[in-house]
Amino acid sequence: MDVLEAVLTRRSATRLVPPAPDDAALLELIQAASAAPDHGLLRPWRLVLVRDAQRELLGAALAEAATDAAAAERARAKPLRAPLLVSIVFCPRPDHPKVPVWEQLAATVSVVQNLHLLLHSRGWGAIWRTGRAVDAPAVRHCVGVGAGEQLLGWLYVGTPGSGPGGAPRSGFDARTKVRTLGAAA
Ligand SMILES: Cc1cc2nc3c(=O)[nH]c(=O)nc-3n(C[C@H](O)[C@H](O)[C@H](O)COP(=O)(O)O)c2cc1C
Repeated sequence: MDVLEAVLTRRSATRLVPPAPDDAALLELIQAASAAPDHGLLRPWRLVLVRDAQRELLGAALAEAATDAAAAERARAKPLRAPLLVSIVFCPRPDHPKVPVWEQLAATVSVVQNLHLLLHSRGWGAIWRTGRAVDAPAVRHCVGVGAGEQLLGWLYVGTPGSGPGGAPRSGFDARTKVRTLGAAA
């Protein structure tokens, strides 16, 4: 798939069914995704894969973080929406002399977007999902997020399920976001 085609046809896949890529296939794509731009080559990220029964453990942690019983039951089921969850852990170096934290976050997001596009190019579906629970102690503990690290959510990964795709993209016109200094408005 050509890059332009991959960018234009990638969508967030809300219905994901088995199978998901196995560890070897996924690692190959993560390796490629890590070629993203990264000031200082700090690689300020790591990924924690959640598969099979581990999804239920994560569901229990999400339920613990919920505010009421109904929300807890909904939260418990969330990780079961895909066969594989790639937890995205941001590991910034806050005191780096040249690369501020925002640049490290930009580098990390670039890797995630690369991975999403690569998964799509191989026929897999994915959606980046977040939520307030990323900061909950139970969830951080379950994923193994350390002090100084931040959980950025999960790339839910699997095989795109049948059914309607995402709503058509709006008629966004990029020209409304671009101007050239010195040119007439
Ligand atoms: C950082 C980030 C967090 C996101 N979190 C969620 C989420 O919690 N739930 C969700 O349904 N989609 C989430 N999304 C996906 C967006 O909703 C989706 O990208 C957007 O609707 C555009 O759709 P598209 O990806 O199909 O183009 C997230 C996307 C990003 C980049």
